[in-house]
Amino acid sequence: MTERCDLLITNANAATMDPSIPGGYGAVEDVAIAVTGGRIVWIGPRQELPDCAADETVDGEGCWITPGLIDCHTHLVYGGHRASEFARRLGGESYEEVARSGGGILSTVRATRAASAEQLYQAAEPRLQALLSEGVTTVEVKSGYGLDLDTELKQLRTARRLAQHYPVDIVTTCLAAHALPPEYDGRPDEYIDLVCEEILPAVAKEQLADAVDMFCESIAFSVEQCQRVIQRAKELDLPVKAHAEQLSRSGATAMAAKAGALSVDHVEYISNLDVAAMADNGTVAVLLPGAFYTLKETQVPPVESLRASGVCMALSTDLNPGSCPIASLRLMMNMGCNLFGLTPAEALAGVTRSAARALGLCCSRGVLRAGLRADMVLWPMETPDQLAYEFGALKPAQIYFGGRHVTA
Ligand code: NIG
Ligand code: FE
Repeated sequence: MTERCDLLITNANAATMDPSIPGGYGAVEDVAIAVTGGRIVWIGPRQELPDCAADETVDGEGCWITPGLIDCHTHLVYGGHRASEFARRLGGESYEEVARSGGGILSTVRATRAASAEQLYQAAEPRLQALLSEGVTTVEVKSGYGLDLDTELKQLRTARRLAQHYPVDIVTTCLAAHALPPEYDGRPDEYIDLVCEEILPAVAKEQLADAVDMFCESIAFSVEQCQRVIQRAKELDLPVKAHAEQLSRSGATAMAAKAGALSVDHVEYISNLDVAAMADNGTVAVLLPGAFYTLKETQVPPVESLRASGVCMALSTDLNPGSCPIASLRLMMNMGCNLFGLTPAEALAGVTRSAARALGLCCSRGVLRAGLRADMVLWPMETPDQLAYEFGALKPAQIYFGGRHVTA
């Protein structure tokens, strides 16, 4: 009997990113991909395709097909900008100095509190559109520029609203423990009380966050304070992740990994013991080369040790107004290779398979495999190495979101 499917793509090659297929890209040349109900139902060499009657047949025109890209760490809903701080940092001030003088994250908190929900939405749209034009089909968005209940809720609701109007899945993360708001100056433990007793329960009640994040650093919160946030998130049944070891070593990575964090992000200053804790607990290292580049950091994350220990390495933009005002995941792939020493295949895994894992979504996406979502990008290129190698001219030829063709 002939099988039926909604969509059949042939005359293409696939970088499936399936680790069970040998080679870094899990490549299948002359591939056929059948899609039904928004999911891949068959993928493999075209000669092995079973008899299949498709409602729509697409000629891939020799393109390479990858999973839809996943930006697993962004702060793309915020008010204002920090161009004046860029100038200050170019003049020699450090990111920490700017933060300690009341600028940095707190400057964006002021602008985000002052913005209406509609203004936040309109400001976020072009950032999201820039990511989508590169073939991104899943984006994580954090709060953390509110630092009070109402503004944290406003940011998270805005993030959810974006997903109602664009062909993208938005995963939201509550980052209320991002910085100490001015009204709690000198009282960080009391602010953590507010986060644990009011903000997180309210966010959980409204189902506005898929995870909880925190910034563990001398200019933000201590390991002990972050531990309290993790404990509360667990009580509320929310997975956790952490910004850690970006500017100095604190021990937060090992603490978060042992507590079962999905990911620890930045990780420039981690030690071999921290790497071992991540490996033991299956915690993903999210590398953020755009922030490293923007802040002119010199401490590179220990990629060789992460690789040798089998820690999954994701790559993300960290899109935010301070440490990375760059809305390009493709540029991060290039920077991941040039600045951190990833291979082009690791860079693609970092924005697909490993990024899905960093969001706890590896059961549904990040790999082209039967049963998973049909989020797919067709690229007019001769080899998938081009995705990390070149930047600017190579654009998606076609994008499919849940099996639906969307404008590239
Ligand atoms: O991931 N590290 C903390 N948070 C952001 C930067 C936030 C900001 O500067 O506005 C980051 O780099
Ligand atoms: Fe960040």
